[in-house]
Amino acid sequence: MKAEHQTTHSRGKFSSSFGFILAATGAAVGLGNLWKFPYVAGQNGGAIFVITYLFFIVTLGVPIMLGEMSLGRKTRLNPIGAYRTLDKRFTFVGVIGVLCAFVILSYYSVIGGWVLKYVFTYLTGNHITDATAFFNSFISSSVQPILWHIAFMTIACFIVMAGVTKGIERASKIMLPMLFVFIIVILIRSVTLDGAIEGIRYFIVPNLSTINSFSEFSSMLLAAMGQVFFSLSLGMGAVITYGSYLSKKNNLQKSALIIPLLDSCVAILCGFAILPAVFALGFEPSAGPGLLFETLPRVFEEMPFGIFFAIIFFVLVLFAAITSAVSLLEVVTSFCIDDLRMKRKKACVIVASIMASLGIFVAMSFGVLSDIEIFGMTMFGLLEFLSDKVLMPLGGLFLCIFVGHIWGIDNAAQEITNQGKLKFKLRRVFSIAMKYYAPVIIGIIFIASFF
Ligand code: PHE
Repeated sequence: MKAEHQTTHSRGKFSSSFGFILAATGAAVGLGNLWKFPYVAGQNGGAIFVITYLFFIVTLGVPIMLGEMSLGRKTRLNPIGAYRTLDKRFTFVGVIGVLCAFVILSYYSVIGGWVLKYVFTYLTGNHITDATAFFNSFISSSVQPILWHIAFMTIACFIVMAGVTKGIERASKIMLPMLFVFIIVILIRSVTLDGAIEGIRYFIVPNLSTINSFSEFSSMLLAAMGQVFFSLSLGMGAVITYGSYLSKKNNLQKSALIIPLLDSCVAILCGFAILPAVFALGFEPSAGPGLLFETLPRVFEEMPFGIFFAIIFFVLVLFAAITSAVSLLEVVTSFCIDDLRMKRKKACVIVASIMASLGIFVAMSFGVLSDIEIFGMTMFGLLEFLSDKVLMPLGGLFLCIFVGHIWGIDNAAQEITNQGKLKFKLRRVFSIAMKYYAPVIIGIIFIASFF
């Protein structure tokens, strides 16, 4: 009891359920929604991808999120500690999570650096008129992307050093609602551009001719599943870690519904803000990671007070990216604090430095190192593939097996119902999802993607 009390105390806690929902939504809403979702949808056939994505949000995302939260709150530990406490044989799943946080943050921070560069450019009064030329010359230059990446990592590091709860909770309360409003403003501009209708159609009307073979179909499934994991921060312990800061009174079932709902709303709104503009401005939807950075500046150019909107929008993207980066850093930092007995500040600086070093190669992979390929992918492509399509689904698969068959639905339900105080109407559904549905689906998609 004493030990538990101490751990709880030193680990801090979210002030209220609302605060937790905001912080967790802040962690979930990030570059995954704003930057990645539109281009991954664009690369995978548009509406078919979107429908599959939403289907997986409900049938995989929600139950896995609930499972992770209950595991985190039960043990009040980082992912490695959480699995180890309940069953030593599953410690490796926590290790996968911590590794995955390394992998993601090293490239996440590079993209965060791009956002920072845009914010800075607009803030210093510059227009970005030819966004494609601006973007390409920036990402392929040798020093700039690295410096901006390090600047982004430094900001995230300072926030985690200060302890997450207060700053993040408070900031999320103001920034998240603002982000919603701004996306809607941009969306209205984007869908009213000449030729936007093609983009809207692409985004909502399934077109079977975009999928021509089994391998295209299975890679679309894998991309949609990977995007669900990435966007909800599942399968790598972020939700376990945030759950560990959660009060025993919180209603986990509500949180596990609200967070995915808000997260996918932001993703869909972003798709509507970006894809119509892509078509109206004559870009290819499958252009890849530059989509947001090349199309939106052009949309802003077409708006009255464009530069003003551009500043606010990119500041909000930056904020969304930082709250997510913080959660990634927090996963590894909390492990170093709990298990390696490091002080928070020291842990954070060491972890951020290692991640930043790895990120330098990613930053260069768009320019100086763009010719170097590993398994046919650039460094960025490889790390993205490893996190979204390998580590996170595997982490999710083992989580389900663990909750469904090892820790057991009864124990999970005890935690989920706050020791029987709350109803758990969907218990059967949760049980089937954890024990059979999710592991089978993840396993099949995973294997099919090799063919
Ligand atoms: N979900 C975050 C986003 O959408 C990314 C992230 C992944 C954050 C994994 C934490 C853990 O940007």
